[in-house]
Amino acid sequence: ARQNHIRNFSIVAHIDHGKSTISDRILEATHTVTEREMQNQLLDTMDLERERGITIKMNAVEVHYKANDGGTYIFHLVDTPGHVDFSYEVSRSLAAADGAILVVDAAQGVEAQTLANVYLAIENDLEILPVINKIDLPAANPEAVKTEIEDVIGIDASNAVLASAKKGIGIPELLEKIVTDIPAPEGSLTDPLQALIFDSAYDSYKGVILTVRVKTGILKPGEKIKFMNSGASYEVTEVGVNSPAPIKRDYLMAGDIGYVAASIKNIRDARPGDTITHVKQPAENPLPGYQPMTPMVYSGLYPTDNAKYNDLRDALEKLQLNDASLEFEPETSQALGFGFRTGFLGLLHMDVIQERLEREFDLDLITTAPSVTYHAFTTDGEMVDVANPSELPDVAEIKTIEEPFVHAQIMVPNDYVGAVMELAQAKRGEFDTMDYLDETRVNVKYYMPLSEIIFDFFDKLKSNTRGYASLDYDISGYRQSDLVKIDILLNGDKVDALSFIVHRDFAQERSRVITKKLKEIIPRRNFEIPVQAAIGSKIVARSTIKAYRKDVTSRIHTGDPDRRAKLLDKQKRGKKRMKSVGTVEVPQEAFMAVLKAD
Ligand code: GTP
Repeated sequence: ARQNHIRNFSIVAHIDHGKSTISDRILEATHTVTEREMQNQLLDTMDLERERGITIKMNAVEVHYKANDGGTYIFHLVDTPGHVDFSYEVSRSLAAADGAILVVDAAQGVEAQTLANVYLAIENDLEILPVINKIDLPAANPEAVKTEIEDVIGIDASNAVLASAKKGIGIPELLEKIVTDIPAPEGSLTDPLQALIFDSAYDSYKGVILTVRVKTGILKPGEKIKFMNSGASYEVTEVGVNSPAPIKRDYLMAGDIGYVAASIKNIRDARPGDTITHVKQPAENPLPGYQPMTPMVYSGLYPTDNAKYNDLRDALEKLQLNDASLEFEPETSQALGFGFRTGFLGLLHMDVIQERLEREFDLDLITTAPSVTYHAFTTDGEMVDVANPSELPDVAEIKTIEEPFVHAQIMVPNDYVGAVMELAQAKRGEFDTMDYLDETRVNVKYYMPLSEIIFDFFDKLKSNTRGYASLDYDISGYRQSDLVKIDILLNGDKVDALSFIVHRDFAQERSRVITKKLKEIIPRRNFEIPVQAAIGSKIVARSTIKAYRKDVTSRIHTGDPDRRAKLLDKQKRGKKRMKSVGTVEVPQEAFMAVLKAD
């Protein structure tokens, strides 16, 4: 049967270990795309992904492979993101696969996301196929990495494929192993239809396009379908596969991964995690869905030009169509006007969304510093969710405040354990355990406040370990902390968008640093501007922006009009990303200044 010739798999890896390059080689080797068509990292469709070299949205591609046994096999390759922000999407794509190729860098070995991702695969009962990549590197040590995979992950790596995706080494062997080692899908063709939605995207002609894994039954155009969780029903207009361009098919059957279009206008009707069944002869139960994901990090997005508020809302709505993890709601700031409090899975996600808004929708934005959601318990026994620091209730009304903690695992060479522990302690970390990965590396686990991770933990971790440490974390729950809100006053006026919440022990130091930073960032005016940090009505730090004396351009030779024009132009462009707050011009950078410790 055709089912025996299908292989559905994902590729999981730590960031940069070569997942995209291996996907590219598989597409090339199976002639899915001709070499001329082959762009590097074809699976990373978004420009942004290509530029940043990261995979954000997953893609399901069908390729055909003629195996040594003479049969032609259909591979469905489901790409997954490697970054910690997107681990939710990893688990989603894994639910669609029967096996996972585990890519480990031959020089780096098992890293934090290797472990996190492979555990997700193991939880999903996937067959794991280890590949040790980058064996061409001088520092490659495939034997040591094999041992590490066995010791740390606990799977047999003796038959791991040794590959160099860059040089094309090991790819034929990998293709054969996909056929022999990854199980063919199971699932009856005659049972009622159950298809798991694991991705969605918006197409202005076809409506919402769903990527699905059919578990049982057969799905055809013209049929009436129902989404078992949302209850919505539609008529299927088209089904097909991505190869990698979309190719229409007459049907999708149990075991297939493909796309479904049904003129769906409302993304809420057909969320990833939902199950599609037929209106006639429906399945009894939906497939296990996904945990609803909650944004971890919130920030205010404001158009620099207030007239663009509606454009910003439209843009956010469009982005939300293929990014269900993006959340936003209107918010007003005295300083910045009308904007949106926007929730992200993490800082990378935040960066990506901001950049997309600016590039794809041509918006100039002011973004406030990211914040976690705090739980403030008031004296009258209520709990208030605070995702915007300026909205923390008055000190007098607060009994206690809780903040989210994460369970972090940090993998690092022995030599740096001291540095890691010192850093984690300094960031209010609580030591959990430490295990040896092998003779030279350890896995250190800490409980840490999420806010400190957002602050500058990752940058510090990288610099204190010369880039050798890798980090992964899960939310472990809320804990009570001694937190205070710091307000910033410019020229005596409180700027709500600059408020932040910090542990009392760090309040003084961070207030000092930020007032100093703002002094450097905020342009001078022809009057003196005091910059103050306050807890309640008490000023805890202060700096002063001196008045300027001369026009900036007056120093430039009048005989050089080009340069003057350039300077003025540069100033003008710089100005776009500023906001007038009272009498003071505040540039974008100032809102991020609270993220910098020094
Ligand atoms: P994300 O998409 O960010 O998760 O990364 P990835 O795991 O997909 O890694 P990607 O394929 O983008 O490769 C990361 C870097 O490693 C790129 O610069 C590749 O060119 C390089 N690379 C991939 N495979 C090899 C290899 O076999 N040998 C060498 N030397 N470099 C490789």
